Amino acid sequence: MKNEMDQDIQKILYNEREIKGIMKKLGGEVSRDYAGKNPLLVAVLKGSVVVLADFMRNLSINCEIDFMIVSSYAGTKSKGSITIIQDLRTDICDRDVIIVEDIIDSGITLNSLVELLKQRNPRSLKICTFLDKPSGRQSEISADYVGGTVGNEFIVGYGLDYNEKYRNLPYIGVLKESVYSHN
Ligand code: PRP
Repeated sequence: MKNEMDQDIQKILYNEREIKGIMKKLGGEVSRDYAGKNPLLVAVLKGSVVVLADFMRNLSINCEIDFMIVSSYAGTKSKGSITIIQDLRTDICDRDVIIVEDIIDSGITLNSLVELLKQRNPRSLKICTFLDKPSGRQSEISADYVGGTVGNEFIVGYGLDYNEKYRNLPYIGVLKESVYSHN
């Protein structure tokens, strides 16, 4: 059956097969680097839930997961810092922590999050992001593991939303301008 959201998509940037390949590669790299270590994967909700689910199943090592909800935006305007809406339940002191993100855009979310988590004295703290959008950067931050890079386009799918929709698209696509321009 055709996906009813397909009609809102201008073009596909990463199809399901390509995403599978990227997740396998990321999982392989992290499994190699963290062999014998039992890292804690910290997913920043909501977008990263899809990435986390696939990423963790590509890890061949022991790991644990926990979630945070943070907000970096009031409306569409960046505030430059984050508000914690839901914190971790795990004590990360002396843990190897990997933040798992769907996308780094301005970098504001991660920059603030890294500063916050560092204060809790993890043994190590690294970032794994499925996508990087360097053109959006306002805050200096880079990920240790990057799946793919995107340009300055309005992308949705694989966890990424527009007004909370399209997160369940199994691919990453560019949203048609007509969908968001009349709002
Ligand atoms: C998105 C994404 C990242 C953040 C990246 O989350 O999941 O967490 O924005 O943007 P930045 O680099 O400009 O800070 P969003 O705040 O839209 O929430 P969501 O995950 O619930 O969609």
